[in-house]
Amino acid sequence: MRACRREAVPYTPIWLMRQAGRYMREYREVRAKTTFLELCKNPSLAAEVTVTAVERLGVDAAIIFADILLILEPMGIDLEFAQGEGPVIHNPVRNAADVERLREVEDVGALEFVYEAIRQTRSALKPDVPLIGFCGAPFTLASYMTEGGGSKNYVKTKQLMYDDPGAWHAMMALISRALSKYLNAQIAAGAQAVQLFDSWVGCLSPDDYREFVLPHSQSVIRNVTPGVPVIHFGTGTTALLELMREAGGDVIGLDWRVRLDDGWQRVGHDVAVMGNLDPVVLFAKQDVLRAQAKRILDQAGGRNGHIFNLGHGILPETPVENVIALVEMVHEMGRG
Ligand code: CP3
Repeated sequence: MRACRREAVPYTPIWLMRQAGRYMREYREVRAKTTFLELCKNPSLAAEVTVTAVERLGVDAAIIFADILLILEPMGIDLEFAQGEGPVIHNPVRNAADVERLREVEDVGALEFVYEAIRQTRSALKPDVPLIGFCGAPFTLASYMTEGGGSKNYVKTKQLMYDDPGAWHAMMALISRALSKYLNAQIAAGAQAVQLFDSWVGCLSPDDYREFVLPHSQSVIRNVTPGVPVIHFGTGTTALLELMREAGGDVIGLDWRVRLDDGWQRVGHDVAVMGNLDPVVLFAKQDVLRAQAKRILDQAGGRNGHIFNLGHGILPETPVENVIALVEMVHEMGRG
C-alpha cells in the first residue's frame, strides 16, 4: 500500500499476477473437484485458493481469486469455460442490435459471491497483507464480448469499433458503468487496492486508443472510491504508456517489452509502476532469474513506488520453487 502511494518501504514488495493458478499443486487439487466457474462462485473455496497462494509464496499482497469475465453474465452474456479452450461466449455482440440487447447492470448484487469471497479472504489473511480487487478494463472485456473468446487479430472487435462508433461507444459506456459499481462493491467488501486488467489493449494504435478506449478507462478509474489506489495494467503497451497514464491510475503496469527505467520515465516519476519480469524467465536457471530480477531492481534505482511483479500472468507449467525463489530474491536484493 505504501509503494502504491510512493512512500518509503523497507524492501521492494512483490506479488504475481495469476499467483493462484494451475502451476500450483494446491490449486489443482481444489480445482479437480469443481469447474472453474463453480470455483469462482464458491466464496469459501475462492478464499482458500487466494490465501494458500499468499502463504505458499510469501508474497506481499493477495489478489482475490475470480475472473475478469464474470461481470459479463449480468449483462446477458452466456459465458462458458470450455475444457482446454479457455473462455467461450455463446452470444457474441457483433452489431448495434446486439449492443441494444445488452442489459444495463443496475445492481452488481449478482456478483455477491465475489464480495463474500473478499470478506472471507480479508478475515483469513494476516492484517499486514493487503487484498487487491480487480476487473477487466473496458476494451479487454469488449474484445471478449465481440470475438466470443480469445483472438489473434481482433477483427470483429475493430470492425464494430470502426464501422459503428456509436454502437461501440454505447457498449463501452455500458461496460464502464458496470465496472465502476463492481469495483466499488469490492472495495466496500474489503479490497484495499484495485487493478484494471487491459490485457489485450496492445493491439491498438495510439490514435485508436485515444479515440475509442481512453475516455472509458478514464471514467472507470475516476469513479473508483477516493483514496483507494488503482493499478492500471496492460500488455503490449509500449506505444500506449503515456496515454494509459492520461487515462489514470496510481500505479501503471509495465510488461517486459519495455525497460522498467524507460517505462517509468515515460509515465512520469509522479506515479508508481508495477513490473516487469518476463514470466518465461521463471523457467530458466535460478542464477539467470536472479540476474534478471536484479536488473529490474537496478532500473527502479531505489526510487519510491516500485511494486515488483511479472509483466503478465504466471504460466501454467511454471516451477513453483522458482516462484518462491524469486520472492526471496526480491526481498533480499530490494532492501532499501
Ligand atoms: O491473479 C490471480 O491469482 C487471480 C485470479 C485471476 C484469474 N483470472 C484466474 C484464472 C485473475 C486476476 C484473472 C484475470 C483474467 N482472466 C485475465 C486478465 C489477466 C491476464 O492474464 O491477462 C484474463 C484475460 C482472463 C480471462 C481468462 N480466464 C482466460 C483467457 C482464461 C483461460 C486461460 C487459460 O490459461 O486457460 C481464464 C481462466 C482462468 N482464470 C484460470 C485461472 C486460474 C485457469 C482456469 C482453470 O483452472 O482451468
